Amino acid sequence: MIWLIGKSGLLGQEIAQMLEQEKLLYIGTGHEVDITDINELKKFADEKTFSWIINCAAYTAVDNAENDFENACKLNHHALTNLALIAKEKNAKVIHISTDYVFDGKKNNKYTEEDIPNPLNIYGKSKYAGESELMKWNKSFILRTSWLFGHNKNNFVKTMLNLFNSKEELKIINDQFGLPTYTKDLAQLIKIILHKNYSQYGIFHFCNSGEKISWFDFASEIYLQARNIGLINKNIKITPIPTIDYKQAALRPHNSCLSTKKIELLLQISIPSWQNALERFFEIETSL
Ligand SMILES: NC(=O)c1ccc[n+]([C@@H]2O[C@H](COP(=O)([O-])OP(=O)(O)OC[C@H]3O[C@@H](n4cnc5c(N)ncnc54)[C@H](OP(=O)(O)O)[C@@H]3O)[C@@H](O)[C@H]2O)c1
Repeated sequence: MIWLIGKSGLLGQEIAQMLEQEKLLYIGTGHEVDITDINELKKFADEKTFSWIINCAAYTAVDNAENDFENACKLNHHALTNLALIAKEKNAKVIHISTDYVFDGKKNNKYTEEDIPNPLNIYGKSKYAGESELMKWNKSFILRTSWLFGHNKNNFVKTMLNLFNSKEELKIINDQFGLPTYTKDLAQLIKIILHKNYSQYGIFHFCNSGEKISWFDFASEIYLQARNIGLINKNIKITPIPTIDYKQAALRPHNSCLSTKKIELLLQISIPSWQNALERFFEIETSL
């Protein structure tokens, strides 16, 4: 039995779909089984057997976290102490999702798993602290990912599509660099880990492949592809702006590009480019 925590989130819904397609037996929970409450967790897990726990629950509102330190830490940090404890009691393997925002962005190249985190904001700090808690259980995979987009919930791609419909001009940041991750591709990676029953635990980076891009580059490609398939039928002016011109509560890394070499070597996979991922995203969106 697999326990999927955060089943209703952007990634959680994608993983739930994958588990159903694969006919893998799972129980999905959302905030009704509060992972910040150890007693609730114990009550839920009592008399159940889990081979895997997949945790997609998190406090993901990066800017809100700046003024909501306590709740961000409860969910991203302290809940991981609880999960490590339950996983150990159940002898369950864990797949936990973390973030590129554990890095400070000062590196010019892609970040490897060997690079030392130095988060700039409360979200990143709480996620990094959570990683450390989970690492106390030695059957844990921590998958750091970046710039998630998918079908099930609001995200950058969906926001852009809505804005293209309602605006004539957009100003998008062009000095924060990273790589997008399609939720379907991350779900596929998790599928491989589950099927092969890997036991080479630790921290791994995963995002779609390509050279680092800015949010402006990403928005421009979304526009181009949406325009090419007739989803957008008007001209939009997209103007690149520096971070300093866009007020956000949380500081963000200048570069949070992740190197995926470690996971590619371990699983012998090649990861699709972010442009290809976006094409597949549109294929599904337009067929719905
Ligand atoms: N989104 C990104 O761009 C991005 C980038 C890098 C890394 N990540 C990481 O990827 C993972 C998935 O992100 P996401 O965007 O899919 O998240 P999301 O859509 O914000 O979903 C988070 C889920 O957490 C659940 N949750 C909230 N409080 C809970 C609690 N106390 N107990 C149990 N569950 C609770 C929520 O359940 P309910 O729906 O029931 O309230 C929600 O479905 C996270 O670890 C995030 O840090 C995300």
